[in-house]
Amino acid sequence: MRAFDIYLNQEDHTKKLVQTGYNEIASVYDTYWTEYMSYLSEDMLKRLKPPKGGNCLDLTCGTGFVTQKLSEITSGNVTGVDASEQMIAVAQKKYDDTCRFLHDDAYHFLKNQPSNSYNCITCGWGLGYLPPRILHEISRTLCHHGKIGIIDNIVLSNWEFVLFFLVALSEEPSALISYIKPKFYISTGTLVQRMRMNGFKIIDSWKGEKIFRFDRKETAMEQLIKSGVAAGIIQMIDENHTDKIIKRTGELLQRYHSLKGYIPVTHRYIGAVGEKK
Ligand SMILES: C[S@@+](CC[C@H](N)C(=O)[O-])C[C@H]1O[C@@H](n2cnc3c(N)ncnc32)[C@H](O)[C@@H]1O
Repeated sequence: MRAFDIYLNQEDHTKKLVQTGYNEIASVYDTYWTEYMSYLSEDMLKRLKPPKGGNCLDLTCGTGFVTQKLSEITSGNVTGVDASEQMIAVAQKKYDDTCRFLHDDAYHFLKNQPSNSYNCITCGWGLGYLPPRILHEISRTLCHHGKIGIIDNIVLSNWEFVLFFLVALSEEPSALISYIKPKFYISTGTLVQRMRMNGFKIIDSWKGEKIFRFDRKETAMEQLIKSGVAAGIIQMIDENHTDKIIKRTGELLQRYHSLKGYIPVTHRYIGAVGEKK
């Protein structure tokens, strides 16, 4: 009832809560995410084969891994855009000599760009935070035959964590103070269909999962939080209850997986690369 009440009577603060979430973990994001997941972003870039030179844009660039790789591959003018000041600050510190980084909302930034102005646009692990109409703006701002590369978590990527977080929250309903409405895709098929609707020819599409195994619930929860999986989700609860709810979520996860002898944390993802027709 409380969740329903908040949903009906509060504004949508998704952008702000996600931004706060990533600001809080920016200094450890590379250790907990980039270190283990960046090979999947590199795989996306290999399938994409970005054109040499020209203008490239990396939306939701975070700490800049994909942005820098784009710069290495294309030797073009590469810009990274991200809504988190802290994530952008890390990217700037690492790659300021090769790429340009801007702190902005990706949709707002793209909406103000001229049509047919980019040769390649990527979005690594952030499309689900953006409105679906971003694909229309990507299509508009790409040149004829311009390329698009996407890799992202699916909506049910870490469903076990989300489910047990909600169970823990239901035991402490007063902790809920806000809600988020992410727009992650449900499958490769839905992403591909959206891309086609926005004028893209699909070059390749795929899906996969990456499983981490943890002996202890504390380290499983640490991975989920510091890698950004819980960004925006943790911010839905009152700070005074955060530790208790995280602890309880860990207990429930461990109990659910008790027969396995370890706690799996599974990232389920999709990718697609295409060309503007
Ligand atoms: C999982 S991280 C991905 C970072 C990077 N692309 C990578 O491959 O590691 C998601 C990023 O999306 C950014 N983000 C979320 N909402 C955004 C928005 N509305 N506009 C721009 N960036 C956004 C976050 O700040 C965060 O840096």
